[in-house]
Amino acid sequence: LGRLLRQIGAPPPMLAHELRQAYIDFFTEKQHVLLPSASLEPVDVLGIPDESTLFTSAGMQQFKPWFGGQAPAKHPRVVTVQKCLRTSDIDSVGDLSHCTFFEMLGNFSFGDYFKREVITWTWEFLTQVLPIDADRLCVTIYQDDDEAYDVWHDVIGLPDDRIHRLGEDKNYWPANVISQGPNGPCGPCSEIFYRVAPLDEMTSDASLTATQRYLIDDDAGRWLEIWNNVFTQFDRGESADGTVALTPLPSRNNDTGAGLDRIIRVLQGVGSVFETDLFRPILQKIEDLAGRAYGGTMNETDFAMRVVAEHVRAMTFCIADGILPSNEGRGYVLRYIMRRAMRFGRMVLGLREPFLHEVAPTVIKKMGGFYQDLQERRDLILKTIEAEEERFLRTLDHGIARLTDLLAEPDVKQSGRLSGAAAFALYDTFGFPLDLTKEIAAESGVNVDTHGFEQAMADQRKRSRESGGERVVFAKGGGSEIERATATVASKFVGYT
Ligand code: SER
Repeated sequence: LGRLLRQIGAPPPMLAHELRQAYIDFFTEKQHVLLPSASLEPVDVLGIPDESTLFTSAGMQQFKPWFGGQAPAKHPRVVTVQKCLRTSDIDSVGDLSHCTFFEMLGNFSFGDYFKREVITWTWEFLTQVLPIDADRLCVTIYQDDDEAYDVWHDVIGLPDDRIHRLGEDKNYWPANVISQGPNGPCGPCSEIFYRVAPLDEMTSDASLTATQRYLIDDDAGRWLEIWNNVFTQFDRGESADGTVALTPLPSRNNDTGAGLDRIIRVLQGVGSVFETDLFRPILQKIEDLAGRAYGGTMNETDFAMRVVAEHVRAMTFCIADGILPSNEGRGYVLRYIMRRAMRFGRMVLGLREPFLHEVAPTVIKKMGGFYQDLQERRDLILKTIEAEEERFLRTLDHGIARLTDLLAEPDVKQSGRLSGAAAFALYDTFGFPLDLTKEIAAESGVNVDTHGFEQAMADQRKRSRESGGERVVFAKGGGSEIERATATVASKFVGYT
């Protein structure tokens, strides 16, 4: 697209590194101090490890002591570009929207500017510094936030049908904090959405209100959230009788989080973040290795390519921050991400030799200009990835040998069924993933008893609990493999507390 635009004399769309710089320049001109991204292993501005989450998951996280008043803010205005990792939807990665790693643009006020300034700057940045079409934007506010409404309506001039008032589930940070807690600093927020669908695809039913139409279209993926301004202005307190009070904080703060990947997608006019300049070179490398073209569809090749591209990016950043693959906590999540990428590479793309360490240099090249750690730790990153790939291949070899024996057993051959206990033993002993067992068994016309697998897993967890629950992997019931793996680690993110 860039080449084409240059040929016809039009300016090419902004690239990711240009967006980072434009954002930093805009806010430093407004007296914000640029601070570096915190590590993905959460540590706050005071240098104290933050045990409340496994990974840094929002731009504001390192500033919790400043928001919560535990320490005076060193600067009243701060701008950052923060590396974030969110792993709740890890098994959805591969579709057109989910990512584990992303960058959050953040501008923060600690007792300094508030709604009027930040809303005005948001609009100026999106529609004047960036060439985003203002007619394609709408905003949401908390239902009672008349202050925010007045700025959007009277100062910016947005008509009522583009300002949607929603409840605490959508427009409060942390979500649902008023009714569900936790106590502590919180506030209403205002999100900005870009219309990614053409007008004629939008709901036009005149019997619905503008907000009802917006909600339908948002559910259908026709609006893309690109920006969130959180106005941290209350201290939530709950008395013994359950009465909740929202007391105004002595100093009112602002916490902006804007998704760089998504804004770049909008600026480059492409259908998903995977077609932006952030992902294209990574996908190109995977195309070269796999000898197949990426088509941007939901077919299994494209899905697998996105899994690999996204996960290589995430693992590269994790390792650069000193997180190494292991069997528990954060290291386990990294191992899970790495093995998921290997599995898709091997099973769908036919990449049977170690390949991830050949993709990672593309990430380092693309992003190492801004995140210099990637370049400084290049050796560590590539060696760690290759070692983990070799380890996984050995695991697979052992598991495949055992599975081949099992599939040759007369009762398995006769019944066409592999017991859940056997599949679980493979998983438990060799770390052999269930979906791989299913796939290999299917090649011999054998089904795997997945219900029995789950049962064996539950029994194992029960035994583990009874014996003191030392093993992290089976420490707590329910949920996905990754939830079980991290169940002993506190991981509830409670916003500002
Ligand atoms: N804390 C808010 C978020 O993560 C805004 O930065 O969306």
